[in-house]
Amino acid sequence: MALLSIRNLTTVFNCQEGMVKACNNVSLDINQGQTLGLIGETGCGKSVLGLSILKLLPVNAVSSGQIIYNNQDLLALSVKEMCQVRGSEIGFLPQSPATALNPVLRIGEQLTEGLQLHQGMVKEKARVIAMDMLKSLGLKDCDKRAADYPHQLSGGMKQRVVAAMSITGQPSLLIADEPTKGLDAVNRAQVIDLLRQLTIKTKASLLLITHDLKVAVALCDEIAVMYSGEIVEKGSADQVLNNPLHPYTQGLVASLPERGLFPIPGYSPSLLDDIPGCRFYSRCPIRNENCKHQPVINREVNGVHVRCLYVDQSGGTQQRIYGRGFQSEAV
Ligand SMILES: Nc1ncnc2c1ncn2[C@@H]1O[C@H](COP(=O)(O)OP(=O)(O)OP(=O)(O)O)[C@@H](O)[C@H]1O
Ligand SMILES: [Mg+2]
Repeated sequence: MALLSIRNLTTVFNCQEGMVKACNNVSLDINQGQTLGLIGETGCGKSVLGLSILKLLPVNAVSSGQIIYNNQDLLALSVKEMCQVRGSEIGFLPQSPATALNPVLRIGEQLTEGLQLHQGMVKEKARVIAMDMLKSLGLKDCDKRAADYPHQLSGGMKQRVVAAMSITGQPSLLIADEPTKGLDAVNRAQVIDLLRQLTIKTKASLLLITHDLKVAVALCDEIAVMYSGEIVEKGSADQVLNNPLHPYTQGLVASLPERGLFPIPGYSPSLLDDIPGCRFYSRCPIRNENCKHQPVINREVNGVHVRCLYVDQSGGTQQRIYGRGFQSEAV
């Protein structure tokens, strides 16, 4: 049974301009110990999906559907119950480690507090464990660093501290939002290594939200591709990245520099617009009139779930539109 089972999750922001549907009828499963990568272009709803699971959205957002975690529907939990789930059951590595730390508390104190709160440790024991965690996550001069305030640490160091904080409650699910955004190749490799260590150490499942297909290929068992608030393809990382079925996934892979940098022409539709047919219609190179009007249902082709009317049973669209697949490379 899945550790996390999302069913028909829809998250809508009530704004002046209208209702922004940032997640539209999303269904996903994450199994015990599995890493699921959530990929898709900017603004498609990846972070909103992560924050919907954590119930950390602003007050103008409403989520409906079900998010079943350990046999309980997170959407039905009270604020107090959800506070207990966050941190101790589901850990979060936010997009920006700098803003996740309290600027006026020393690093060591922040970690120690987390351990005391989530695991009920006495202060002395929590301090020892905090040092061990930092050391095992590769922070050098731990004793010295523990006395530092966040502004005294480099970006990479902060990332390690936030990673350690995200697992103080021994969560069984970690959500990491763009952990490699804006990093150079060396730092990116370090973060990949850090995430590997985290999942090995905690045996936790990981929902990895990322733009970076190289990171996805290095870490993920499964991939879900999001476009304009919807999941358009999901399956094993190998199949989705090396033999993408949906025209959007094919475009995403072909837009990588090492695949020839073929961008997908056009823009994704406004999340304010309800569209009767396929949301990728206006950009799709294999569209026809049916796609514009006919509701698109998810289909299973060779074990991959794909949201396209024209993926045939042989496991491809009628024509292979863009470039080659994506091979795993050293990162
Ligand atoms: N507080 C908000 N109020 C209104 N709309 C919002 C709010 N937060 C997000 N949105 C809408 O939800 C959409 C999805 O945002 P989200 O942050 O999930 O994108 P993303 O896929 O994580 O993008 P990126 O890759 O750039 O981080 C945005 O395009 C925006 O229209
Ligand atoms: Mg985001």
